[in-house]
Amino acid sequence: MTNNYPIGLFDSGIGGTSIWNAIHHLLPNESTIYLADSKNAPYGQKTKAEIIALSYKNVEILLEQKCKLIVVACNTATTNAIKELREIYNVPFIGIEPAIKPAALNSKTQTIGILATKGTLNSALFNQTLDKYPTIKIVEQVGHGLVQLIENGAINSPEMNHLLHTYLQPMIDANIDYLVLGCSHYPYLIPQIRAILPPSIQIIDSGEAVARQTQFVLESNVGFTDAKISQHTFITNSDPKVLKDVLKNEYEVVERDF
Ligand code: DGL
Repeated sequence: MTNNYPIGLFDSGIGGTSIWNAIHHLLPNESTIYLADSKNAPYGQKTKAEIIALSYKNVEILLEQKCKLIVVACNTATTNAIKELREIYNVPFIGIEPAIKPAALNSKTQTIGILATKGTLNSALFNQTLDKYPTIKIVEQVGHGLVQLIENGAINSPEMNHLLHTYLQPMIDANIDYLVLGCSHYPYLIPQIRAILPPSIQIIDSGEAVARQTQFVLESNVGFTDAKISQHTFITNSDPKVLKDVLKNEYEVVERDF
């Protein structure tokens, strides 16, 4: 089965490009369309109803472009809206959720840390996942302010460093051995986080797992492209500079109101 339509991805901003990187690495021939809804970032502070409405809007645009599959490259949108999206639209959706399972199954201290948005940590879907690991101590932390700083291009700022120290020290004190990054923006902070955490603490994000799941769904019921060259469209509704920077200026970024 061959299908040459693109894979669509959306996020509240530039963070989902960490997922895009993993997908592009695993499936280099697949074309993609990436929507950065930076104008409405952060999603993490919004109500469930607002997150669902924004997700519908993004999906409509990706469907206009005939995407064959949509990756919700945002934990907050996945945990608050993927059920509603699946109820309305026929296209297959792949979501991204904090990688609690590998951390919980491998933790020796039986204590793991999770850094995510308020919207993700408060969601029913996330809490159902937590309930599966009753013996694991979970140290939750809302990453207040982190997404805004990343969206403003302040990844390497003293303010970022200060916030990360404040959020991570209680986890170090609680003896976590895994830190789960529960927001697709946070992989861009791994160098700073690594510098704060002791080397014995492992950092996990969900990029590779989402890429493998995308491959599986294409293989089982959507179809791979047979094109030899892939095309990639990045669309933002805000200043394109930060998106261009995280893409290392290797791809064109289109500015459009949506
Ligand atoms: N990248 C989004 C996530 O994975 C960020 C959420 C936000 O905009 O607050 O949750």
